[in-house]
This record gives sequence, structure tokens and C-alpha cells, in this order.
Amino acid sequence: MPEPLPAVGLQPQGVPAARQTRLDSFVQRYAERTAHLQASEIRALFAVASRPEVVSLAGGMPNISGLPLDAVGEALAELTRERGTVALQYGSAQGDPDLRRQVCEIMSLEGISASPDNVVITVGSQQALDLVTRVFCDPGDVVVCEAPSYVGALGVFSAFQADVEHVEMDNEGLVPEALTATLGRIAAAGRRAKLLYTVPTFHNPAGVTMSAARRAELLQICRSSDLLVVEDNPYGLLGFDGSPPRALRADESDRVIYLGTFSKTFAPGFRVGWVLAPHAVREKLVLAQESATLCPPAFSQLAVGAYLSTCDWQRQVKDFTEMYRERRDAMLAALDEHMPAGTVWTVPAGGFYVWATLPEGLDSKAMLPRAVTARVAYVPGTAFFADGQGGRHVRLSYCYPPPERISEGVRRLAAVISAELELLETFGTPSASAASSSYDKPHPNLA
Ligand SMILES: Cc1ncc(COP(=O)(O)O)c(C=O)c1O
Repeated sequence: MPEPLPAVGLQPQGVPAARQTRLDSFVQRYAERTAHLQASEIRALFAVASRPEVVSLAGGMPNISGLPLDAVGEALAELTRERGTVALQYGSAQGDPDLRRQVCEIMSLEGISASPDNVVITVGSQQALDLVTRVFCDPGDVVVCEAPSYVGALGVFSAFQADVEHVEMDNEGLVPEALTATLGRIAAAGRRAKLLYTVPTFHNPAGVTMSAARRAELLQICRSSDLLVVEDNPYGLLGFDGSPPRALRADESDRVIYLGTFSKTFAPGFRVGWVLAPHAVREKLVLAQESATLCPPAFSQLAVGAYLSTCDWQRQVKDFTEMYRERRDAMLAALDEHMPAGTVWTVPAGGFYVWATLPEGLDSKAMLPRAVTARVAYVPGTAFFADGQGGRHVRLSYCYPPPERISEGVRRLAAVISAELELLETFGTPSASAASSSYDKPHPNLA
């Protein structure tokens, strides 16, 4: 169990020491929750990682250079000309009904049968995470997450002062026995998990996909423990083989809240995502959306709708996945060729990410400045844990750089890891942060 929020570090007035700064004259006035707003490690990395000489394997930006920009531009111009008074006006808090219908058609590709009435359009799936957490979580509530978990979700849970409990994963996704044990521990402590947050398909950052058998087991556990599931599925249509995996929501409509987005299949700049929720929850989400934004942007919604109905978006998704597959292959080949013994990694069947475990004794966060000096960037594994674990891991993204740059980046990274290993052999014992975590040992199957 995580400890309750620590009282240490609080000043008599209730202002955490870390917020006391001479530069910020408002420090005594902020709400307590601002102490839980975290800078994303990934954002902090962007400045260095975006220097042209650095190969960035850090960011998860989709590569949208293949989009038919002329056709999109034409569709946007036509939208403004023909439907400008609607597209540039306020809309409903729940979102455009036509887009909600289109969203239901898209979800049917993952086996989901849903009514547009139970869909709420959001400002990206990031806002969906925010709304769902706002609706369900009070400070101190427990959210169960995979180990590792999506950094943006951890940021939201922290902002709402929820406690995160991580559950072990392996090559087939979340481990059911570990979930049962965690739920048991939570109950034994007199607490109740409010949500299970999972990215079952092409996981960010672990790069693994939950097997069909695991999905059934997970749903069974959630039914018997009366646990709500948040299924976050931005990458579901970006698989390299066959048809998209069946969503958890396809087999359980009463306790799965499904989040989707157009950020990876079309373009993140429109900031259009959605939530599909049981009817009562949907009503609360609409109220939360109303208070947050009045309504999601009408122009973006109609633009996405126009793209879906006038362009061959499924062909475009196929083109995207071919490009990502080539990049994934380049990364896996370079890892095979260059990484020193003792480094292991996952083999993603879709999505954007490889999760690598470094040889014992290395600390990916401490190593990062040396890697950037060697002109390669990654995200240290600690970003994906609420409790500082993950120091032996790195997330490597293959979505953005072209294949030759990926190969070169991995070669540089392997040289940095080898140099660290030499230093370790010559001078040192493993650093404390790299040696202390149960998740930091490569799981027997997570390789
Ligand atoms: C697992 C996961 N969920 C949610 C998001 C947020 O996506 P957006 O807000 O762009 O829809 C991302 C973005 O990378 C993600 O990887």
C-alpha cells in the first residue's frame, strides 16, 4: 500500500516546502492540490531531445507527415464555407451527434456494440482521463494501474490526489494473480479500489498486448471484486498483424469505461477523443464536461467528422501502421545488433513503444545526461511509476524518427550502456535506486 500523503515537508500554514520560493509571491495562496500537479518527465526532456543532433527515442508523437494535407486543407476550407455558422459556434457538452455515431462505427471494429447516446466527446483522451477521475476519485482513493503505466494518466491521478497501486505485467499484459493479490491487500487495509486503469492493447510504455485469455480473466476478477475498469485504447487500430484485438468493453458493457482518440489514427492537433460509459456515468461525465469546457470544440469535431466521411481513413491508418512497422523492425534489429548482454526488451505487435530493461546495476535516470551528451534521448522508466520505481528501464519510441535515425540512436544508446557497465565493473556497486525495486528485475516473461 502506498503511505497516506506525507505530512512531512508541510509548513505550519500547510504549504509544502518545495513550493516555498522567493520567485513566486502566490505561494501561500495556492490550493493544496497544486502540490500534486507534476511536471511530466517527458515534457522536461523535450527541450534537449528536440535538438537536431539528438536522436530522440523519447517522445510519443505520431508521425503525421503521410497525411493528405491538401485534402485535409480543402475539407477544412469547405467546412468553414459550407457549415461555418455551426462549426464556429458553441455545441453540445456531449459532443456532435454525427461524430458520436461515427465513433460507434469505429469502435465496432474492436467488437464493441454501443449507442451514440453513451458516448461523450472530449478534448483528446487525456481530457477523458481527467473527467473520469474527476467523477470517481476523491483524495486518498485508490486507483489500480499496470506497472508500468501511462505517464499522463499517473499525472491525472496525482492531480486528483488519488493513490496509485501498481500491478505487475508480463508479456501477456497485467498478471491476474498479481491483480487479485493487490486487491486483497487493498481490502485488508480497509480501503477500496475505485478504478482499474489499463491500456490492454499495444501498451504505452510496455509495448505488450493483453492476451484474449487474460482479458477474460481480468473481467472475471473485476466482476467478482465489483471493480470499475477504465480501458484506455489509443493504439488499438495500430496493430501490425491481422484485425484489431477485441476490446475489453466488447465483452463487458456495465463496468468498463472505454477511452478512444483520433490523435494516433488521424491527428493530435484537433484534440478530439471520446469516452464510452454506462448511461449513468455518461450523465455525470457530461456535467463534468460542461463545467470544464462548456462543450468540446465544434470546429475540431466537425473537421474530424468531415475527414472520416470524405477521406479513406482506414487506408490512411494502414499506411501509418506500415510506416510504424518498418520503424519497429529497425529498432528491434538495432537492439539485437548493438545492445550488450543483460539488456532485454519487449517486442510490440503494434503501437509506438519498446520497453527495455538495462543490465543489473544501471540507473536509467542517472544515465540520461550521458545519453544526451552522446546525442540520444529516451524516457527513463521512473516516469511510468507513481512510486519512483522503474530505474532499470527505458521507454524507446520508434514512431517518429526515420528508420536510419532509429538504428543510429539505438547504436549510440548501446554504447552509453556499455560504457556505464564498464564504469560499474571498474568502480562501483549498483546505485541504490537501481537496486531497490521489485519491478526493476526483468520479469521472466517481459523480455
Ligand atoms: C495511453 C495513452 N492514453 C492517452 C493519451 C492521450 O492522448 P490524446 O489526449 O492525444 O488523445 C496517450 C497519448 O500518448 C496515451 O499514450
